[in-house]
Amino acid sequence: MVDKVEKIWMDGEFVPWDNAKVHLLTHTLHYGVGAFEGIRAYKRRDGASVVFRLREHIERLFDSCHLMQLEIPFSRETIVAACLQTIAENGLAEGYLRPLVYIGPGRMGLFAVDNPIHVAVAAWRWGAYLGDDGLAQGIRARISSFMRHSATSTLSKGKICGHYVNSILAKREAMKDGYHEAVMLDQDGFVSEASGENIFIVKNGEVKTPPYGSTILGGITRDSVMELLSEIGLPIREARFCREEMYLADEVFFTGTAAEITPVREIDNRQIGKGEPGPVTKQIQERYFDIVRGEATDHMEWLTRYEPM
Ligand SMILES: Cc1ncc(COP(=O)(O)O)c(C=O)c1O
Repeated sequence: MVDKVEKIWMDGEFVPWDNAKVHLLTHTLHYGVGAFEGIRAYKRRDGASVVFRLREHIERLFDSCHLMQLEIPFSRETIVAACLQTIAENGLAEGYLRPLVYIGPGRMGLFAVDNPIHVAVAAWRWGAYLGDDGLAQGIRARISSFMRHSATSTLSKGKICGHYVNSILAKREAMKDGYHEAVMLDQDGFVSEASGENIFIVKNGEVKTPPYGSTILGGITRDSVMELLSEIGLPIREARFCREEMYLADEVFFTGTAAEITPVREIDNRQIGKGEPGPVTKQIQERYFDIVRGEATDHMEWLTRYEPM
């Protein structure tokens, strides 16, 4: 259960958590055309509360809406401020932010282009998405029987509500079969991404991740990790790879706002490397947590400070 907080920002004002309701004929509820973001806030060792890459997330929200031709009735600055206010005014020293753009009631049917567009921002406490044990020891994944959206079926660079039916099918299948996460292949059978994370593999010191130009979501954690890898001096290549390259990798890890940097110790019942988080994964995980929760003084441009009330 989501841990209830006091209020939710809806179209410019705060509404008590229990009153944050929408009409049954909310268009997005029926057809999935809407966009959202998932953003984390952390409490650093020095006591500061910070939101990780807030501006980039809001930029992606606007990109998602541009792809879907949804006109957001607020500026980027207003939504950035709404996020900061929502997390601060709910007294959360750290947590998760969920801005959502949705089409309200008006016309029904598929061609409803003049319905009102609404924006909401909720915040709640959220621990490790794939479990503390997953972060520390690594998780088990399986290749999904569901394919990642193809390039001609939708616009996968958008974080669109309806896209997540595909991810949920994959996630449920994996969980019900006793795994923690699903790896999805693309229309040509190459590794694409996990149900809610991007994928990295390490082999003989070289790191690879599927290219931005494929049908992956352009992960903000992925982008951060690529930068951190380059800073450490580890060669990173954006390249297609097949499932067996993953099975034979020395290390595999997933990246995402919810999952952070999660090591993968097994895929399709094949041990990855030594079956435990490898040195590159651990180094990147440590760098990431040092920036968001620790005492690192670099990459302050990724952090937006706020004061929880
Ligand atoms: C399908 C999918 N891929 C990748 C990611 C990782 O993106 P980010 O690092 O921006 O959270 C997410 C999470 O938002 C996702 O839902």
